[in-house]
Amino acid sequence: MNTPQTAPALPMPTLRSIDGILHVEDLALPAIAERFGTPTYVYSRAALTAAFEAWREALGDRRSLVCYAVKANSNLGILSVFAALGAGFDIVSGGELARVIAAGGDPAKVVFSGVGKRREEMRQALEAGIGCFNVESAAELERLDAVAGELGRKAPIALRVNPDVDPKTHPYISTGLKSNKFGVAFDEALTLYRRATSLPNLHISGIACHIGSQLLDPAPMAEAGQKVLGLVDQLAAEGITLEHIDLGGGVGIRYRDERAPTVADYLAPLLAVFAGRSETLCFEPGRSLVGNAGLLLTRIEYLKPGEEKNFAIVDAAMNDLARPALYDAWHEVVEVAPRAADAARYEVVGPICESGDFLAHDRSLAVAEGDLLAILSAGAYGMTMSSNYNTRPRAAEVIVDRDHAHLVRERETVAALYAGEHALR
Ligand code: LLP
Repeated sequence: MNTPQTAPALPMPTLRSIDGILHVEDLALPAIAERFGTPTYVYSRAALTAAFEAWREALGDRRSLVCYAVKANSNLGILSVFAALGAGFDIVSGGELARVIAAGGDPAKVVFSGVGKRREEMRQALEAGIGCFNVESAAELERLDAVAGELGRKAPIALRVNPDVDPKTHPYISTGLKSNKFGVAFDEALTLYRRATSLPNLHISGIACHIGSQLLDPAPMAEAGQKVLGLVDQLAAEGITLEHIDLGGGVGIRYRDERAPTVADYLAPLLAVFAGRSETLCFEPGRSLVGNAGLLLTRIEYLKPGEEKNFAIVDAAMNDLARPALYDAWHEVVEVAPRAADAARYEVVGPICESGDFLAHDRSLAVAEGDLLAILSAGAYGMTMSSNYNTRPRAAEVIVDRDHAHLVRERETVAALYAGEHALR
């Protein structure tokens, strides 16, 4: 019988078991492994679209712009899906801007974040006509004015302020505290806005903040919004009126058993803060748009029983998915074709020469050598944080659209890895 059973326990909405085999949309994962090899990142177009629509619906008829944070997953295929849906983009480098343009994104809907923008990146962004520079320091403000002046253009700016609220997330990904390197202090913001009014090549367009990532509690964002609004009103009293308010990204997702709010629930208290305001509200979501729209498909090379632990050695590694090694992050690991045999507990590890090279600890799996595993919630900060450590070519990437697989990135070749290197002769 070919009736799909939905598996509500899995965080990826379009992943389901049909006749005992995991499918993304209508495509069986073993068929993808067969055709493209492993490890391969597999994304679902329907899941990407649904995640974007959830944002759009949550914002309703509010004047707003959702700028997808490219750093979460910068594959051109992913960017093109969001561009076609009308998304804007949040970038942090000239490289990301080039990707957005190559994928058909609209530069006018791009915001440029980051503490270390170089002159040539400013030039590139000005020439492309981007929507806004989110300026993070006094020095950057001066530099941007000078670069815009050289080009005879006006640079649209927002100051990224640091609202000093605790987002209660992993310390590596919380960004809105005074102790962080991001943004300008609240007290300094007024002075800098005043300074900006006297710089001839800047156009003050808005204000921005971003307090952290993988946020599950909406309260800190609403608190940050409230603080930002206070500043907006102070600025207005001085005659500095803003067109947009950018509230950053950060909405968390379910990896394991977290109670992740829906986007609508997450935004509700924040939108209440801005009820009746005319400014355009911008957001920079990354993880919540792509995280659970992707998985990493990998094959078990060896099973290695040990005295204390059993190891399932797979062909993906920390170079493909760094989050477990870096943050001790939990990613669900599921068998693609579960066996009836008794399960055992395994450390799921890669072939890299480091003890930190693990994808999951102590998981119950019923598997044999050669079986496929799906590492879930890998759509965000998976491929973009991958490396070539151990001269491992990076994985292929595929977007599934119903029963069709689009290869959106070819597997790297070893030759390509050292193509720009030179041996001394
Ligand atoms: N805007 C700014 C200014 C950001 O710094 C970030 C993320 C975002 C938007 C998007 O945040 P999201 O909606 O994805 O939470 N590598 C880490 C996450 C680092 C996030 C850095 N900034 C991880 O794998 O969890």
